[in-house]
Amino acid sequence: MNHNIPQHVAIVMDGNGRWAKSRLMPRPFGHKKGVESVRRAVKFCVNNGVRYLTIFAFSSENWKRPKKEVSLLMSLLMKTLKKEALELQEQGVSVQIIGNRLGFSQDLQDTFDTIEQQTKEGSRLHLSIAANYGGRWDITQACQQLAKQVKEGGLEPEAITEKVIANTITSKGVPDPDLFIRTGGEVRISNFLMWQLAYTELYFCDTLWPDFDDKAFSLALQSYADRQRRFGKTGDQLTGDSNA
Ligand code: FPP
Repeated sequence: MNHNIPQHVAIVMDGNGRWAKSRLMPRPFGHKKGVESVRRAVKFCVNNGVRYLTIFAFSSENWKRPKKEVSLLMSLLMKTLKKEALELQEQGVSVQIIGNRLGFSQDLQDTFDTIEQQTKEGSRLHLSIAANYGGRWDITQACQQLAKQVKEGGLEPEAITEKVIANTITSKGVPDPDLFIRTGGEVRISNFLMWQLAYTELYFCDTLWPDFDDKAFSLALQSYADRQRRFGKTGDQLTGDSNA
């Protein structure tokens, strides 16, 4: 394993449906298998020193899927969070749900609160589960909060800096992702962490999410380790070349 481990990895877990279809099984079967991959990825992060993991469990656009699939995903989310809470706690994982919770049933909202409370002392890995999440929604809700503060007189418009915005989006307190992974062969961001991904290294692979194992995760980390992150500077500036 390489030494240059990303502090924060964000993942779009794509390909569950196709994984199931290729086995002549219904799509929900792929989502159930996908949960096993989530469990494996969390363990991988804990064991390899990744400190933050953000996964896209349900996008604000996923409501458009067939009703049956939406309700399967809801019950899978609920069951998994209840079932895994203790194990996550024991592994030192703190869980946070990011997204518009108001779209979920009261039962599910209560489950979110419970797991966040139960795991809040976890300090090895911070797991953010994006549910009913959209990057544009996140920026919009931050704008609304800040506009309200301006209207009430508590904030000058000029005081709205990038830092203030970063502290108003739902991932506040979590550093921006170093590495973005999308499985399943599509090469797009799909309205994931739009603000947070500005300088993130992007990694796309064809592996379908249920097949994304430790070896596949290691390959992504290796690709990350081989890159030079410049943040707008020149390569020579970073390597200390005096003629840069
Ligand atoms: C994308 O595959 C996957 C999703 C929309 C849902 C991801 C959810 C899980 C892995 C399980 C629930 C998560 C937790 C944290 C318990 P797709 O259905 O778009 O696949 P396709 O592109 O092959 O159709």
